[in-house]
Amino acid sequence: MATYALVLFTFLALVSIQAFASDPSPLQDFCVADRKSEVFVNGLVCKNAKEVKPEDFFFPGLDKAGDTSKNPGSNVTLVNVEKIAGLNTLGISLARIDFAPYGGLNPPHIHPRATEVLTVMEGALYVGFVTSAPDFKLFSKVLNKGDVFVFPQGLIHFQFNIGAVPAVAFAGLSSQNPGLITVAKAVFGSNPPISDDVLAKAFQLDKKTVDRLQAQFLNSS
Ligand SMILES: *[C@@H]1O[C@H](CO)[C@@H](O)[C@H](O)[C@H]1NC(C)=O
Repeated sequence: MATYALVLFTFLALVSIQAFASDPSPLQDFCVADRKSEVFVNGLVCKNAKEVKPEDFFFPGLDKAGDTSKNPGSNVTLVNVEKIAGLNTLGISLARIDFAPYGGLNPPHIHPRATEVLTVMEGALYVGFVTSAPDFKLFSKVLNKGDVFVFPQGLIHFQFNIGAVPAVAFAGLSSQNPGLITVAKAVFGSNPPISDDVLAKAFQLDKKTVDRLQAQFLNSS
C-alpha cells in the first residue's frame, strides 16, 4: 500500500512539474549538460561537477552579424543549451537577431517554452504579438535603438525591419531550450505535408494556392 501511495505521489509530482510552463528551478548550483549521456530526462543529464570548466559557460562570437541575404531577410543566432552546455536547467537563453534593410522579417512564430524580452541595438523594427482566443488582439509597436519589448510565452509574434539600415536586436528567453514554431512553415511546410483539403478549408484558399504554398514552404523557412 505504501508503495502504491509512493508511486501515485511520484506520478502526481511529475504531472504537477509538467504543469509549469517555464523551465523548472535548479536544485544545485549548476547541471552542465553531459552530451555523451544516453539517458533522457526532462532537460539533459548533468556531467560530474568536478569535470566542469569555464568553457562550459562560454560562447564566443555574438558580435558577428548573421547572413540576412536569404528570404525572408533575417538571421537568428540562438545561444541555447545546445551552444552552452552550462545553461542546462537554468531556464534562460540568448539570441542575436539580424535584419536586412527594407523589410528583413523574422516571420510570425511561437516559442512554446519561453517568454522573450527583446532590445534593439541598431535600426528600427515594427514588432508585435497576438493574444489567444477569443480576442486575437494585436499588441504592436515601432521600436528604435534602445527600446525594449516583451513577447509573452506561447504567443505568435514577429519583428520586421522598417528602416533603410540593417537592424540588430538581442533577446533574452526564459528557457534553456525555448523551441520554435514558425507558423507558415509548420502549417504549409510540414513533413509529410498536411492534406491540401484540410489547408484549403482551414485557410479559405483554393487547393492550387495551397499546393503552391506547400511547394514553397517545404524547402524554406
Ligand atoms: C545565418 O548566418 C550564418 C552566419 O553568416 C550562416 O552560416 C547561416 O547560413 C545563416 N542562416 C540563414 C537561415 O540564412
